[in-house]
Amino acid sequence: MMQDTLGRTIDYLRLSVTDLCNYRCQYCMGCEGVPKRSHQDILSIEELAQIGEAAIRCGVKKIRLTGGEPLVRRGILELCRQLRKIEGLKELTMTTNGAALPQMAAQLKDAGVDRLNVSLDTLRPERFREITRCGELEDVLQGLQAAEKAGFTDTKLNVVLLGGINDDEIADFAALTGERPYCVRFIELMPMGVCADWPQERFLSADAVLQAVPELEFAGQSGVSEVYRLPNCKGSVGLIRPMSHTFCGGCNRIRVTADGKLKPCLHSLQEYDLRGLQGEDLEAAIRRAVEKKPSEHHLLKQHRSDTERQMHEIGG
Ligand code: 5AD
Ligand code: SF4
Repeated sequence: MMQDTLGRTIDYLRLSVTDLCNYRCQYCMGCEGVPKRSHQDILSIEELAQIGEAAIRCGVKKIRLTGGEPLVRRGILELCRQLRKIEGLKELTMTTNGAALPQMAAQLKDAGVDRLNVSLDTLRPERFREITRCGELEDVLQGLQAAEKAGFTDTKLNVVLLGGINDDEIADFAALTGERPYCVRFIELMPMGVCADWPQERFLSADAVLQAVPELEFAGQSGVSEVYRLPNCKGSVGLIRPMSHTFCGGCNRIRVTADGKLKPCLHSLQEYDLRGLQGEDLEAAIRRAVEKKPSEHHLLKQHRSDTERQMHEIGG
């Protein structure tokens, strides 16, 4: 088991497998996309698996593969298979934009991925093109169907609340939980990277969801998410409030960027290089970094993340 100096048990690793993405979401990156790094700057599949294994030996029980977009990473299925074989891993999950799920859902299931989070900020095709700058809504909708067909359950839909952009769709998203067993999770936009200087009106409190859908009934807390339900619904609605509430006191996670830096906190400048380390040295480096985990972020005080990283480098 791994505990930080505040007694928080750290058992969840978010591992970014690439900083590249096939979309260009407005709040996440500039329209020119990601500056191309050279191949050697990015962890190999072997290094990613080694880091996963060392983290599991340190006490990590859950690994989420993130990006950029993890499904554009070559070798992603091989990585999933390798991680799945490691004893001690309870859950292997992935956050994806869903575009490649029509082709890949069944293979991901087969490679041992347990659950999926799919990012989807609008249900309107035209708006989807605007927000993602190049995506097609239909691909993601078909991807969700493919995931269901492949046997994935408890799929979560991540909706970033964008004031003045998608807040008129809150009720539509909530209604989706009546028809399908999805957990639709509304996430407060965090001021980092390209959206750090966006106007205040873009940053909505998740309270907007409760105002738009007053029928929602509180059903408990699940990790960082407050869970609500509509009466007689198959799915649920979650609120993730990094801005209006801080959940740092219960934080159980660490992150590794695609270029091999361990970030004990999403919003902190602190990074610890894991490259070139193996075996016990790698484990020791992970433990040392966890000891330096900050108590909380300062998003509310300064309305800006300390990190200079873009979201596509960290994976959320
Ligand atoms: N604030 C909140 N969520 C964000 N995401 C990306 N950038 C931000 C931000 N600034 C979300 C993505 C995806 C997840 C990885 O994080 O939409 O669902
Ligand atoms: Fe954990 Fe840092 Fe996120 Fe707070 S801001 S929940 S400490 S990662």
